[in-house]
Amino acid sequence: MKSISIGLLGLGTVGTGVVKIIKNHQDQLMHQVGCPVEIKKILVQNVHKKRPVEIDPNILTSNADDILFDQDIDVVIEVMGGINATKDYLITALRQGKHVVTANKDLMALHGSELLTVASEYGCDLFYEASVGGGIPILRGLVDGLASDRITQLMGIVNGTTNYILTKMTNEGRSYDEVLKEAQELGFAEADPTSDVEGLDAARKMTILATLGFSMHIDLDDVQVRGISNVTEEDIKYGKKLGYTMKLIGYAHREGEKVEASVAPTFLSNNHPLASVQNEYNAVYVYGEAVGETMFYGPGAGSLPTASAVVSDLVAVIKNLRIGVNGKSAVTPQYPKRLKEDSEKYSKYFLRIHVQDEVGVFAEITTIFAKHGVSFEEILQLPIKKNETSEIVLVTHQASLTSYEQILQELHDLQAVKKVKSTYRVVRK
Ligand code: HSE
Repeated sequence: MKSISIGLLGLGTVGTGVVKIIKNHQDQLMHQVGCPVEIKKILVQNVHKKRPVEIDPNILTSNADDILFDQDIDVVIEVMGGINATKDYLITALRQGKHVVTANKDLMALHGSELLTVASEYGCDLFYEASVGGGIPILRGLVDGLASDRITQLMGIVNGTTNYILTKMTNEGRSYDEVLKEAQELGFAEADPTSDVEGLDAARKMTILATLGFSMHIDLDDVQVRGISNVTEEDIKYGKKLGYTMKLIGYAHREGEKVEASVAPTFLSNNHPLASVQNEYNAVYVYGEAVGETMFYGPGAGSLPTASAVVSDLVAVIKNLRIGVNGKSAVTPQYPKRLKEDSEKYSKYFLRIHVQDEVGVFAEITTIFAKHGVSFEEILQLPIKKNETSEIVLVTHQASLTSYEQILQELHDLQAVKKVKSTYRVVRK
């Protein structure tokens, strides 16, 4: 087989890693795919910029057409990020018969279905392993490794920035603002951390995971999202007292024909496998009816980890080329989308409530929960704080989202309740 020519769109953190891996693992790649792999052109904004890897300046271009319309380029690797312009580039590449590997979760979460349709129409592969969990081979784990199973639950720590912040808050008892600032200074968090800390990045990844895991087209808007910016060190401290660890959890659950998906700060019991995932690491817990519990763990970002997933996709494309089956793996979802109603979504909940320190208040609160058929798993009554305020921490048994929201409203309306200070989902193993 002739050598395979690559056009690389982008030469930032991940692009640099891709160049390094293709160069340093050439023998191994050659052994696996049976031909040399060569980067023919790289799209950059500034061809004169100094790069952290040695690159022949003649292969750099600032004109995407040099790659998209180059007849010799077999595979386009997209690691430039962005949504609309990038989507146009990839559609052009596919229409030119080029296979595409992308690390772009934003693009795949929003337009994956359209791009996969174009890929299939033109007999091209479109792989995107690096879009979720960086170097963790989770998408192939779901699609190939667990192909025979029926997956009923996916839970993910799929955002490294928030896991780093929550880990530091937990281990060092520091505030959200302080840890975020430090994470930004160390380069762990973006200058504008909104999409990470407000859960959008994780929601995009859960959209991709749930679509593949449940073989059902899930849209980003189907994922209920809550970020970590209101989590306090006190909340984490109370959780600890009860044996819970706070994590930003992407949760996707299938029951019968229906699914739900959400991202929210969640208290996990300390014995849950995801509770021990620390710092910027990612992990996806997958429950299959046949296999039971599995967990995929590893670095969710970074130059070489993410590039390793990208280059593994490239290997998959070339293996398909050898046997002439490109474009055949984009399987359309098996099931039509069916989402659970709020009354069908069940969880346990943690509530931290500030109440007036008066006789009978606790009874009033328990009456509200009892009215909705929700009982308690744990109760912590804490010493009186200032201004005659007492603090009650509760963990409920399973409650539907509908009941939980009604309970919150009724607590809010109760004279003796000064404030529901905080409330989180709880997942026990
Ligand atoms: N901002 C992402 C994170 C990078 O913090 O996990 C990887 O997608």
